[in-house]
Amino acid sequence: MTPSSTRFRAVIFDLDGVITDTARYHYLAWKRLADGIGAPFDEAFNEELKGVDRMGSLELILARAPRVHGADEKLALADAKNEHYRRLIATMTPGDLLPGALRALEQVRAAGLKTGLASVSKNAFTVLDRLGIRARFDYVVDAATVRNSKPDPEIFLRAADALGVAPGDCLGVEDAAAGVASIKAAGMFAVGVGDAQVLRQADVVIPSLERFDLFAY
Ligand code: BG6
Ligand code: MG
Repeated sequence: MTPSSTRFRAVIFDLDGVITDTARYHYLAWKRLADGIGAPFDEAFNEELKGVDRMGSLELILARAPRVHGADEKLALADAKNEHYRRLIATMTPGDLLPGALRALEQVRAAGLKTGLASVSKNAFTVLDRLGIRARFDYVVDAATVRNSKPDPEIFLRAADALGVAPGDCLGVEDAAAGVASIKAAGMFAVGVGDAQVLRQADVVIPSLERFDLFAY
């Protein structure tokens, strides 16, 4: 292979923590909720929530709370977290793209590959619009239609199917351990973005998208 060719036919990106730093906003919103109900919460525990959908994340937090919460209380807590999160993302602009994100998206498209987005966040379309990058994706999975959150492979397989590319010809990009597990369960090549200790299952780990190079994998 020459340095400008690749065996892949599609690249499927996660959003939160890969393309923009919304992982920080999720953390802040969950932290306030956890503090309010007396559940212990720190950065290490937060790693377990990354890539996990809203109700799944809430259940993980409530499992550490000092008392049991009923179904109505759970819905109210999830709504409150989401309202807080939506206030945090309301002022985002294209300036909130993480370093290297735009260049990575451009590299993938310029090489003639399909570009997909696989985020379990029901706020993903809002975030993409605030960043001004929705049109840069050939397909964005609608999280509202995903039944099984990461680490299940469903969302990455759905993206591949919609792009018309076999999973084995896809490269997935993720910042969460659950997300990398989802990519690998889908039979794809996984590029982890972040800490190699956390993203052990990834085929390659890079510290940020600034180091993303489609032609190196
Ligand atoms: C994932 C985040 O992308 O989306 C999780 O990594 C978050 O932290 C999940 O809980 C669901 O997001 P939302 O916006 O639907 O509550
Ligand atoms: Mg993420």
